[in-house]
Amino acid sequence: MQKILVTYYSESGSTKQIAKIIFDTIINYDVDLMEVSKVEHLNYDGVIIGTPNMYGKPAPKIIKFLEKNEDKLLTKPIHLFFTCMDCYLDNEIKEHNVEIYTDSNLSGKINILERMNSWEKSHAVSTYIRNLKTILPSLTISSLAFFKGRLRFKSLSLFNSMVMRIVCLVNRNIKQGDYYKRQDVEIWIKQKDFFAELLTSNRS
Ligand SMILES: Cc1cc2nc3c(=O)[nH]c(=O)nc-3n(C[C@H](O)[C@H](O)[C@H](O)COP(=O)(O)O)c2cc1C
Repeated sequence: MQKILVTYYSESGSTKQIAKIIFDTIINYDVDLMEVSKVEHLNYDGVIIGTPNMYGKPAPKIIKFLEKNEDKLLTKPIHLFFTCMDCYLDNEIKEHNVEIYTDSNLSGKINILERMNSWEKSHAVSTYIRNLKTILPSLTISSLAFFKGRLRFKSLSLFNSMVMRIVCLVNRNIKQGDYYKRQDVEIWIKQKDFFAELLTSNRS
């Protein structure tokens, strides 16, 4: 049976809970669920990685994991999901040739990147993809999902809690709360070709 790894980093718990929903929803494959620091090998046919968006990039522990395992990850299909507070679809996505999924909190019309204000630009999907490419230029993400996650000051480190309080003061649309929905996660996983793309390695 083909093996899938679902690995994640989570600070306030939403990425972990989404990873668990994915784990529970995968029924026809052998699947492991593991916090990223516990991953000891990558003997899997497909890998799903979950990370909070931190300043437009994956969390530092996920960046470290990507860099440390670069060789092995370049030969595997990767599906990656971000949890975040904000995200905008933009006209440059198609240049990147990545399947994009945004949950029901985040989906909206596609805007022209050049016409976006600086907040929107920094939270645009193609900016997130470009940031990922600066970490591992050759990494091929087969499917990239965005779920609005969770913001709870009390669950964050003192420093991160202060940062996010300031973000909320500057941008009144960002508010504490739990946003992700199980059904949105299930829709991503039940998409046609989700497993075909995850488990068909066309790289050697
Ligand atoms: C230090 C820090 C930086 C963040 N930067 C962003 C950001 O640039 N864009 C965004 O949409 N959300 C940002 N967030 C919000 C998190 O991505 C969001 O709260 C996520 O759901 C948290 O996941 P967790 O519950 O698994 O920790 C940031 C959160 C923290 C703590």
